[in-house]
This record gives sequence, C-alpha cells and structure tokens, in this order.
Amino acid sequence: MRILFIGDIVGRPGREVVAAELPGLVDRLKLDFVIANAENAAGGFGITRAVASDLFAIGIDVLTSGNHWLDQREILAFIDDEDRILRPRNYPARTPGRGANVYQAKTGERVLVVNVMGRVFMDALDDPFAAVDQELSACPLGEGADAIVVDVHAEASSEKMGMGHFCDGRASLVIGTHTHVPTADAQILPGGTAFQLDAGACADYDSVIGMDKEEPLQRFTTKISGGRMKPADGPATLCGVYVETGPRGLAARIDPVRVGGRLKQTIPGV
Ligand SMILES: [Fe+2]
Ligand SMILES: [Fe+2]
Repeated sequence: MRILFIGDIVGRPGREVVAAELPGLVDRLKLDFVIANAENAAGGFGITRAVASDLFAIGIDVLTSGNHWLDQREILAFIDDEDRILRPRNYPARTPGRGANVYQAKTGERVLVVNVMGRVFMDALDDPFAAVDQELSACPLGEGADAIVVDVHAEASSEKMGMGHFCDGRASLVIGTHTHVPTADAQILPGGTAFQLDAGACADYDSVIGMDKEEPLQRFTTKISGGRMKPADGPATLCGVYVETGPRGLAARIDPVRVGGRLKQTIPGV
C-alpha cells in the first residue's frame, strides 16, 4: 500500500499548496491512502466544517489533529458524526470525537489511523503510550488492519522517538507532528516500523512555525502580546512522508516529501 502523510496544514497558504500539489503526487506516487494533520488548517487555529470539506474534496482521506483541534468551537457540532476527523485519543474519556478509526484504502485494504498527543511540555492528558497500546492490541497489524499509522502530536523529540520504538513492529508508520519543521531522520526502525520525528508543516517557511514573524518576535523580545497570531501568507511548502508497506503491513520504504515554497525540494523517485 502506498500512503502519504501530510504534516500540519497551516491556514490558507497551507491549504493552497496542498490543493495545488496533492493531485500530482497522487498520480505520480500512485497513492492508495492520504492522511493530513489539519489542526491549524482554519486560519492557523482549528478545523471548520467548510475547511474539512475542502480538504476531503481534494483527495485527503483522513484528517488528524492535536492541541488545536478545538480552537474552532463549531467542530463540536460535527465531530461525533464525522469519522474522518480524529482528535487526540488520550483526551478524557467523555471528550466528543474519536482518536482512532479503521478506514478503507483505494485498494480495499484496511488502514487503522491513531492520533495521540504527548504530555512533555504540553497539557496533562492521559498516557499516550497506554492509549496507543490499547488501539494496537485491539486491532493488530496484519490481522485487524493491513496498515497502521500513528500520528504522535508532541513537543518533545524524546517522547516522539520513544513512541516510535514503543510501536516498532506493530505499526506501519509512526509520524511526529506539532513542531512544524521536517526532521531529517526518516528511517525504518529495526522491527519494521517507518518513523520520522516530525513531518513538518504545510506552511510558508518565511515565518515562525508558519505564523507571521512580527507577533512572535514581539512576544519573545518584550513579553508583550500585540494580538492574535496569523499565518504567514507567502508561498507554502507541502511537507510530509511517503510510505510503502510490504509483508505483514510493515514498512518497505519511507521518503520525505517537500514540494513548493522555500524549502529544499524532495519528491520520492518512483
Ligand atoms: Fe500544528
Ligand atoms: Fe500542535
């Protein structure tokens, strides 16, 4: 199975680069399943119904999220009925929405997607390792699912690497999100799970993690907030990873993807 995971889509520039580049990537890489983290898709903060519909219409099968999933309160009106949107699995049990689900790829094969959030330098949620363990045990790779993707939305590199090893041999891909910068460590771990510490964002990289530079610099240099952050509006780079699964659903290949905008470009050769 050929899977593309797209990192945090930030505002309109992020949505525009995904709309412009995804159809070409689907053709070129013969993609069977596309996942994107959309926690920053609506003006940099959260997900609206309209934004989600647009992202589904351009060929994304599932939207994951993170600490910003609830920034647009309207999501509460539809998250229980929209099983293509995930919020972190390790929120309190009574939180609306879901953090894991099984989907069908173009090939007809089953893909389990799990979204969890880290706890280091982040809100105190339930244990993300226990949450992932429950999902992987309930739906084992090669039995309940033909491929498994875990989006670990976390600040600390240590916690994300830990999650990679924790899932090694039980997931096709463990991919980090949240820090909005692609890391150069794409690898297949010893047990056969593909891993990259952070997918990067779909954002204008002439920015501070996708946001217009002025406001964060003012806050860093004066500790005075000048108002709301807004996405930097120059041309964005689509960042993500491409994964091919092999025997038993484990990874046969992982390649970083960076298309458009300022970052050095890389598209997997076919
Ligand atoms: Fe984000
Ligand atoms: Fe985040």
